[in-house]
Amino acid sequence: MKILVTGGAGFIGSAVVRLAIARGHEIVNLDALTYAACLDNVAEVADSPLYAFEQADIRDRAALDRVLDTHKPDAIMHLAAESHVDRSIDGPGDFIETNITGTYQLLEAARAYWTAQGKPDSFRFHHISTDEVFGSLGPTGMFTEETPYDPRSPYSASKAASDHLVRAWAETYGLPVVLTNCSNNYGPYHFPEKLIPVVILNALADKALPIYGDGSNIRDWLYVEDHADALLCVLEKGALNRSYNIGGENERTNLELVKTICAILDEKRPRAEGSYADLITFVTDRPGHDARYAIDANRIISELGWKPSVTVEEGLARTVQWYLDNEDWWRALQARDGVGQRLGVDKK
Ligand SMILES: NC(=O)c1ccc[n+]([C@@H]2O[C@H](COP(=O)([O-])OP(=O)(O)OC[C@H]3O[C@@H](n4cnc5c(N)ncnc54)[C@H](O)[C@@H]3O)[C@@H](O)[C@H]2O)c1
Repeated sequence: MKILVTGGAGFIGSAVVRLAIARGHEIVNLDALTYAACLDNVAEVADSPLYAFEQADIRDRAALDRVLDTHKPDAIMHLAAESHVDRSIDGPGDFIETNITGTYQLLEAARAYWTAQGKPDSFRFHHISTDEVFGSLGPTGMFTEETPYDPRSPYSASKAASDHLVRAWAETYGLPVVLTNCSNNYGPYHFPEKLIPVVILNALADKALPIYGDGSNIRDWLYVEDHADALLCVLEKGALNRSYNIGGENERTNLELVKTICAILDEKRPRAEGSYADLITFVTDRPGHDARYAIDANRIISELGWKPSVTVEEGLARTVQWYLDNEDWWRALQARDGVGQRLGVDKK
């Protein structure tokens, strides 16, 4: 299959690009190369005859038309987005423009292209979204595909809006779509402003390991390569106009997660004295910090036969090792604007 992947120079998009090419798909990677992008993430496939790169912004309709007309993909996997909740608190405008307006432009370009192709049933617009659109859970319960939307940050609200647009384009214009909502990802090439890389890299620099609030917020962690596998599974086998929740069944409090990372580092790269856990420091909470996310992934497991391949302990061990082995990659990104600074503090 020839797939146009938007956001393929980012964290999850690049995992999709690498896996899809390993499985013999042809990939066109469309990315604007924002602060969050890194073409090194796809260096291992860059010379493949199956790979093409187009630097373009999803808000630029003319560029989208040109890329679709040039490459004539069988499917679009839409991952390009502004993705950092803390940045969305400081500057929501970019999130509205890329995640909502950009998705609208991409839907319109896809609709025109699909129509010009004779509206093939086999075409797919796969919209990649987050479990954060469902809001925050109490101590029990899980998000299913039927959970009402209740986004609470500018990031999750913009993603929720984009999900609604995709469903509307399916209902109104018949565009063949599939949607996925996934829990928190982690793994290699995770941009060094997100919790797990921050913890690994601060620990290696013997700096404080910042934990928002009391560390009791719960997330359901999924290894990024398992997410990429789930996305290709949904693209190939998912039912038309259906949405699938994707999760790792790996609920951890942030404090548990950070302590696990510290224990792995204590083994792999022991500190001169004491444990890395001694560096844990509680800092002011993120405003509107959702208490708990948990995914009921039963639909994708039972209908499509997907399941995660690694436990969070195995995935974290691989991730820590990857950061130990790839210092050149993360050092270059740490110099980018805003990385290493506390963003998204209370604005009320
Ligand atoms: N990271 C997670 O845990 C997670 C979980 C569930 C869903 N998601 C969703 O998965 C997708 C990818 O997330 P990620 O963590 O890889 O994000 P990321 O920030 O690492 O990468 C986003 C990519 O999109 C590109 N991009 C941004 N604005 C663009 C624009 N206007 N035009 C073209 N390209 C643009 C960036 O250059 C970057 O390469 C997002 O849609 C996100 O909402 C993420």
